[in-house]
Amino acid sequence: MAIQKKLKMGMVGGGPGAFIGAIHRSAALMDGLIELTAGAFSSNPDKSKQAGEELMIDPSRVYSSYDEMIQKELLLPEGERIDIISIVTPNNVHFDPTKKALENGFHVVLDKPMTLTYDEAKELYKIIKKSDKLFCLTHTYTGYPMIKQMKQMIANGEIGTVKKVYVEYPQGWLYKLLEHENNKQAEWRTDPARNGKAGCFGDIGTHAFNLAEYVTGMQVAKICADLDIKVEGRPIDDDGAVLMRFENNASGILTASQVDTGCENNLKIRVYGDKGGLEWQQEDNNSLVVRWPNKAAETYRAGTGYLGSMANENTRTPAGHPEGYIEAFANIYRNFARCIYALRKGEEPKAEWRDFPGAEDGIRGMAFIELVLASSASDQKWTPFIVEK
Ligand SMILES: NC(=O)c1ccc[n+]([C@@H]2O[C@H](COP(=O)([O-])OP(=O)(O)OC[C@H]3O[C@@H](n4cnc5c(N)ncnc54)[C@H](O)[C@@H]3O)[C@@H](O)[C@H]2O)c1
Repeated sequence: MAIQKKLKMGMVGGGPGAFIGAIHRSAALMDGLIELTAGAFSSNPDKSKQAGEELMIDPSRVYSSYDEMIQKELLLPEGERIDIISIVTPNNVHFDPTKKALENGFHVVLDKPMTLTYDEAKELYKIIKKSDKLFCLTHTYTGYPMIKQMKQMIANGEIGTVKKVYVEYPQGWLYKLLEHENNKQAEWRTDPARNGKAGCFGDIGTHAFNLAEYVTGMQVAKICADLDIKVEGRPIDDDGAVLMRFENNASGILTASQVDTGCENNLKIRVYGDKGGLEWQQEDNNSLVVRWPNKAAETYRAGTGYLGSMANENTRTPAGHPEGYIEAFANIYRNFARCIYALRKGEEPKAEWRDFPGAEDGIRGMAFIELVLASSASDQKWTPFIVEK
C-alpha cells in the first residue's frame, strides 16, 4: 500500500505576539496528519521572517506576503508544495487570501467570522461552492466531544422536540478601553475597518449563534436584537441580547458580552425538549448534564464507553484525562484532513469526519451580523411598557 504523505500547510498570520495562530498550529499538528511547511506570518516581512525562524521553517518557504506564498508554492512540484492554507488574520484579511488560495487550488482553513462584510461573504460563498477544494471555518466550539454528543442526542430525538434554547457567551476582557492601551487584539476588534461593523456580535455572538444552530440542527427563522455599547468611546457594540425563533417555532435567547467584568470565556448552551434537557458549559467542557422530568439528572462524561459515535470519534484520552480548547480545534483539523485524504483516495469520507464547519456556517454567521444590527437599530420591535391608570 502506498504511504500517504502528511498534508503540508502554509499559514497566513499567526506572527509574533498573535493569539490564535499558535493554537491553530498546535491543533493542526496534534494528530500527525498535517505539517507546517510554509508561512506568510505577518504583514511585516521582518516579523514573518522572525516567526519562520522561531518555528524552524525552511527559510525558502517563509514569505513576505500571502500573494508571494501562493505564487512561489505553485512553482513547486505537487507533493512538495503546500496542500492547505490556514488563514488566521484579522477579519479584513479573510476574503482576499481565501479567494486566491481556493482559485489557485489550495484547501483552506479560515478562522471566523468568514469575511469583513456580508457582500464579501456572498461572493466567497459562490467561490467556495464552485471550487473542488475543501473549505473549513473554525467555529471551534463545534469540535468539543460533549457538544458532538449533545448534537447526536438531539438528532436521535432523545430529548424530544426542542422547545427552548439558551446560549450565552460572556467575556469581560473589554470592560475598559483596552484598545487605547496598546493591546493589539483589542485594537483591531474595536475598529470597524478591520473587524467589521459588529464588535462583540461579530467576534463571539457569531460563535454562540453557530453553536445554537449546530447542536439543535435547526435554523433560526427570525430574530429580535438589542445591542449596546457599554464602554464610552467605543465605536461598535460590546454587549447585547437576541431573541430567536427557530423554523420549528422553538424559542431561543442568545446573549453575548465582552464587558462582563471578570468573566473569562464561559460559553454555555442549554437546550430543552418535550422529553428532557441538555446543558453544557465550556468551563466544564468534558461534562454534559442530561435532565429528565421524572428522575434525577445525569452527568455524561467525555472519554467514557457509553457515548455516541460523534463524541467517540472526537475524543483522544480516556475519561478523567481532560481534553480542552486545543483538542476541540484539533478535532476540526483532523476531520478536515481525513476528508482530504479520503477524497485523494477516491473514497467517501465517514459522516463523522465531514462534520466540520464550512461555507453554510460562514454565510449564516455573516447574515446574523447583518440582521442583528438591523434589528437592533430598528424601533419597531419594542413595545412601550405603559401602565394606564
Ligand atoms: N475560533 C476562535 O475561537 C477564535 C479565537 C480568536 C480569534 N479568532 C479569529 O482569528 C483571527 C485572528 O485573531 P487573533 O486574535 O489571532 O489576531 P491577532 O491580532 O492576535 O493576530 C493576527 C495576525 O495576523 C497577522 N496579519 C495581519 N495582516 C496580515 C497579512 N496581510 N498577511 C499576513 N499576516 C497578517 C498579524 O501580523 C498577526 O500576526 C480573527 O479573524 C479572529 O476573529 C478565532
